[in-house]
Amino acid sequence: MTSLGINIDHIANVRQARLTNEPDPVQLAYLAELGGADGITIHLREDRRHIQERDLRLLRQTVGSRLNLEMAATTEMLEIALEVQPDMVTLVPEKREEITTEGGLDVAENKKTISNFIQNLKSKNIPTSLFIDPVSTQIEASMEVGAKWIELHTGSYASSKWNQQKIEFSKIKEGVVKAKNLGLRVNAGHGLTYQNVEPIASIEGIEELNIGHTIIARAIAIGLKEAVKEMKHLVLNPRQEHLF
Ligand code: PXP
Repeated sequence: MTSLGINIDHIANVRQARLTNEPDPVQLAYLAELGGADGITIHLREDRRHIQERDLRLLRQTVGSRLNLEMAATTEMLEIALEVQPDMVTLVPEKREEITTEGGLDVAENKKTISNFIQNLKSKNIPTSLFIDPVSTQIEASMEVGAKWIELHTGSYASSKWNQQKIEFSKIKEGVVKAKNLGLRVNAGHGLTYQNVEPIASIEGIEELNIGHTIIARAIAIGLKEAVKEMKHLVLNPRQEHLF
């Protein structure tokens, strides 16, 4: 059975738009878990554009499922991960100018650095997953650097249509078979939506899907009417006794 990791970065995006304390990803992670999340995923970016270190440290204490920390392979992030000890680290490529993670990690070109990272994290019993494109060279390189897990990037599948989507789907399916044959455990994610998730969820061998944007978007759509009703009630029925 495929499990579901919820990426809650977008909750923090809304908070950071106002630099206030709501919505709080730490509090709302609990609702995601109540809804059935098997894990909570956050990306602590170098530029701290959404998730903050405070979120990571509190979520480490409050998440009852599993905490997956996405991060770039930098010395700063390694120190934070070794100290906070999430349940899993997913190494992702990171560029300051990107809107979201573009493309997978180039493991084949950075074997030594990534292997050192994995060993360092292993010393604290933190398993590492490598976020890679579904291509043979990267899957083989992931095995060679000692990763136990990979996360296959579903972004190209998600953003393509018709025949091209079929081709991208086959790449993921073949990637899973290849990875399993090499003894790797496989997650997948990025760009998955309510419309395109089912074919990916039905691939044998994928253990977990990490999904964020579409779920937060849906939460706004489902919750907006109630939120407006609550505010309308206050506006129409203000308490007469003032608190100040
Ligand atoms: N997996 C990884 C490695 C990611 O970087 C992201 C986006 O932060 C996701 C999954 C989730 O992608 P989305 O928000 O498009 O569902």
